[in-house]
Amino acid sequence: MKFLIIGDVIGRTGRNALKEFLPSLLKEEQPDLVIANGENSAGGFGITKKVYDELLSLGIDVITSGNHIWDKKEVLKFIDQEERLLRPANYPPSALGRGYGVYTKDNKKIAVINLMGRVFMGIPLDCPFRKFDEIYEELKDTVDYIIVDFHGEATSEKMAFGYYVDGRADIVFGTHSHVPTADEQILPKGTAYITDVGLTGAVHSVIGMKIEEPIQKFITGMPIKYEVATKGFLLNCLIVEIDETETKIKRVKLKKE
Ligand code: FE2
Repeated sequence: MKFLIIGDVIGRTGRNALKEFLPSLLKEEQPDLVIANGENSAGGFGITKKVYDELLSLGIDVITSGNHIWDKKEVLKFIDQEERLLRPANYPPSALGRGYGVYTKDNKKIAVINLMGRVFMGIPLDCPFRKFDEIYEELKDTVDYIIVDFHGEATSEKMAFGYYVDGRADIVFGTHSHVPTADEQILPKGTAYITDVGLTGAVHSVIGMKIEEPIQKFITGMPIKYEVATKGFLLNCLIVEIDETETKIKRVKLKKE
C-alpha cells in the first residue's frame, strides 16, 4: 500500500501548487491514499466548503487539520457532515467534527487519526498520547493501517509521540511548523516517521505568508495582518510504501520559481 502525504497547504498558492504538481505525482507514484493538512487552505487561515471540495477534486482523499480549523466560521456548518475532514481528536468531546476516520481502499481499512500537540500551542487540549491509546484500543482489531497527523510546534513532543506509538501506528507525520524536517525514518518497531512534512505554497515566504509583514511584526512588536505569499510553487510531501516485508519512506520536494 502506498500513501502520499502532503503537509500544510497554504491558501490559493498552495492549491495552485497542488494543481501544478499533483497530477503528474499521482500518475507517477500511484498512491492508494492521499492525505493533506488543509487547516490553512482557504486564504491562509481555515477552510471553507468550496476549498474542501476543491481539494477533494484534486485527488486528496482525507484532509487533516489543527488549531486553525475553526478560523473560517462556515466550517461549523459542514464539519459534522464531511467524513473526509478531520480535526484533532484530543479536542474536548463536545467539539464539532471528528478526530479520526476509517477509509477503505483496495479492500484494506485505513484509519487516519488527527492529533494536536500541547507544547507552544496555547490551547488546553486533552493529552494526545492518552487519546491515541484510547483510539488505538478501539481500532486495532478492525483496521489494517493506522496513520497519524500529529499537528504540533515542538519537535521534541512530536518525536516523543513517534516513539510512543512506534509499532502501533504505521505512519506518524508532523504538521503545523510549515518547515520540512530531514528526519524521515523508520523507527525501531517499524513506524514510518517524520517530524514535519513542510508546507505546500509559495517558494519565498515566511511559513507561507508574504515576507514583509512578519518582518514588520518582529521589528515593531505590533500586531499585523498576514497575507498568503503568491510567488512560485512549492510542494513538500512524503511517500510511504508499506508491504509485508518492508516499509519505505521518501521525502519529495517539488519547486517552480
Ligand atoms: Fe497549525
